[in-house]
Amino acid sequence: MDKLRIKGGNRLQGQVRISGAKNSALPAMAASLLTSQEVILQNLPLVNDVFTTRRLLRELGATVEFEQDHSARLHAQKILSHEAPYDLVKTMRASVLVLGPLLARTGRARVSLPGGCAIGARPINLHINGLQKLGAIVRTAHGYVEASAERLSGTDILFDKVTVTGTENLMMAATLAEGKTVLQNAACEPEVGDLAEMLNEMGAHIKGAGTPEITIEGVRELNGTTHRIIPDRIETGTFLIAGAITNGDLEIVDSEPAHLGSIIQKLRDTGAQIETGAGRMRVRGNGDLWAADVVTKEYPGFATDMQAQYMALMTQAVGTSVITEDIFENRFMHASELMRMGAVIRIDGARAIVTGKTPLSGATVIASDLRASASLVIAGLVADGATLIDRVYHLDRGYEKIEEKLRSVGAQIDRLK
Ligand code: EPZ
Repeated sequence: MDKLRIKGGNRLQGQVRISGAKNSALPAMAASLLTSQEVILQNLPLVNDVFTTRRLLRELGATVEFEQDHSARLHAQKILSHEAPYDLVKTMRASVLVLGPLLARTGRARVSLPGGCAIGARPINLHINGLQKLGAIVRTAHGYVEASAERLSGTDILFDKVTVTGTENLMMAATLAEGKTVLQNAACEPEVGDLAEMLNEMGAHIKGAGTPEITIEGVRELNGTTHRIIPDRIETGTFLIAGAITNGDLEIVDSEPAHLGSIIQKLRDTGAQIETGAGRMRVRGNGDLWAADVVTKEYPGFATDMQAQYMALMTQAVGTSVITEDIFENRFMHASELMRMGAVIRIDGARAIVTGKTPLSGATVIASDLRASASLVIAGLVADGATLIDRVYHLDRGYEKIEEKLRSVGAQIDRLK
């Protein structure tokens, strides 16, 4: 199992290039199941979740070939299997995104229930309810979701809670349903908008993606397309915080400032200097950081996927900050590891109260999930001495070559095999 070793104390300076968005790539790859024609995706991030999705699509009968330039050719000419097996789904819950496309394309799908993960129970009841409303017969047995439908028929679906992959799953299923579907209380994340754009390029009729109400007029079949994945806003936010916490000067290119409104605003509140331009951003520390409270919310609010990274930043901010996690029920695992490095954090239910500024000392720490790992990397950048991060496979799920990108802007970081 790989480990990352970081020696803290270097200011980050220079330019980093952001990869394509993992959470856009995964639904886009699943969408290739909706057509018998070839789909080309560009700007794919070379992260493990993308490789897991490739394995899953191949098991279903699609061909998936990566080119040298971060693009891939996906072709689900025939669907040979309708089952997403447990051994794949348990490693990546986003496998549930093949449920809607498989059902819409072939009338059948058998997908392992994803099960919980470190950050929460993460049920998929809203996905299932929505598919039932579209006319599917859905039952859960032996740890699997089994769905079938002659042809899905459009209807109105109101989500009890905002769900990103639930919105994506149902939007994909509705593209081939009979008639019109309206999704209300839909997720507004940029990744939902990117998926809708790709589906429309394939011949779907989707309006309103990016707003809480999405309308889909069903069609008989979809065609292939070539689609470029949007930049990863969470990777961008992670580097913004890395630049701010090390009092550095980072130029971030191939990013999309418009997708980071609440993150930029909050970081400016803490004293970080952030400039934005077309496809690029620049972050500079100005010596001091001040505490600022945050509550995670659905987009366009402050992203829950940025909460752990922000907590690391707040350990270096003067004052007391209150971080409220309003989306997931158990997303503070990074706090105990940060405390082992010297952070002063008190957990009170959904709130973490951070008192800064506290010097951090390098330690051997364990990553528990993707964004908690990013938080520990950020803390290691400013800790005194060496930090050793174990279970780095969490990080590799969602960050492409993070140690190379950090090293290229001055971090002392290497990977121990
Ligand atoms: C997506 O997960 C992202 N993953 C997550 O990113 C992200 O943290 C999350 O959205 C919130 O922004 C992908 O896009 C692949 P939800 P998702 O359904 O869709 C509850 C990362 O770090 N809920 O929006 O699974 C759920 O328990 C990952 O890249 C139900 O109750 O999240 C949660 O409390 C981590 N029933 C809330 O809704 C359902 O059927 C939001 O979950 C579905 C969700």
